[in-house]
Amino acid sequence: SAHCLDENFVADPQQKTVAVLTSGGDAPGMNAAIRAFTKTAIANGMKVIGIRHGYEGLLRKDFIELDYEKVSGISCAGGTILHSSRSKEFNTPEGVAKAAKICKDLGIHGIAVIGGDGSFRGARDLANAGINCVGIPGTIDNDIKCSEYTVGFDTANNTVMRLLDNVRDTSKSHDRCFVIEVMGRSCGDIALQTGLASEATVILVPEVDFEFKKDIIDRIKAAQDNGETHFIVVVAEGIGGVDRISSQIEKFTGIDTRYVILGHIQRGGAPTLKDRVIASQMGIYAANLLLNDKSNRVIVVRGGKVVDMDISEALNSEKSFDYKLYNETLNLGF
Ligand code: F6P
Repeated sequence: SAHCLDENFVADPQQKTVAVLTSGGDAPGMNAAIRAFTKTAIANGMKVIGIRHGYEGLLRKDFIELDYEKVSGISCAGGTILHSSRSKEFNTPEGVAKAAKICKDLGIHGIAVIGGDGSFRGARDLANAGINCVGIPGTIDNDIKCSEYTVGFDTANNTVMRLLDNVRDTSKSHDRCFVIEVMGRSCGDIALQTGLASEATVILVPEVDFEFKKDIIDRIKAAQDNGETHFIVVVAEGIGGVDRISSQIEKFTGIDTRYVILGHIQRGGAPTLKDRVIASQMGIYAANLLLNDKSNRVIVVRGGKVVDMDISEALNSEKSFDYKLYNETLNLGF
């Protein structure tokens, strides 16, 4: 189409050309990162290519040139203007080699990859194949091991919180128990944050083992003894099985119980201020790293500050779940 780069495009050797792509599940705030990256790069004399559809698009040379106009006014929109994908082909050594060759042939100096863990592994492989890569953590899951924060997490939490509030209204009116599955892959952060914010009676996360009777049934009964007439059970998707959990609760407590799987509703919507601000900071940071010929770095939040670190180090570090907050939250659930 008209805005796509010509098949035979080759970067001007006199001008640094950098690219940006979004990969994996989209997350609100990705657009703010694209905008900040692009504007910073252009302001520093670089040319910016947007790679559409993630690594899949890189292999297909699905490129557009990004300019001020294309990235203006996009921070308020969820999703990603560049589209995203989970590429099978890129996940092979042949795919990485092919992608690296495409970048070299075109004269792409470096790529900013906005995405989660899987996207960072791709960025590391591409960096090892000689292409400068920097990662920006973008996923609603907050599951990037080395970063205290991932772009999209705040928006998703706020969305889930509002949805849980809605469930509570009907739950309360009907004196029911609701079992709600929230996203997060194998990370329980969304479940914990939204469970606390919405006063859940039970929160199940993959990071903490649980016993059905003690941690679910007994808790609901204790809340009932304290006068509660409706119950919210938040289940991280890493636990799953909400249909079974729901029928078991009904069987053992006699309380009318329903379940809801919130699904992809959680991934859309206008990004919160926090997501726009952090995404912008990270986009600026990424452009500066590439300007200074840095590679194999990921941008993270540490001690509340936006900093960068080695990708491999980042991928190998341990993500710590906030067990203290989890236990404190449960103590408020009755
Ligand atoms: O990583 C974001 C996420 O929404 C996870 O919470 C979820 O497990 C997964 O993506 C869903 O993936 P898909 O959009 O491919 O169904």
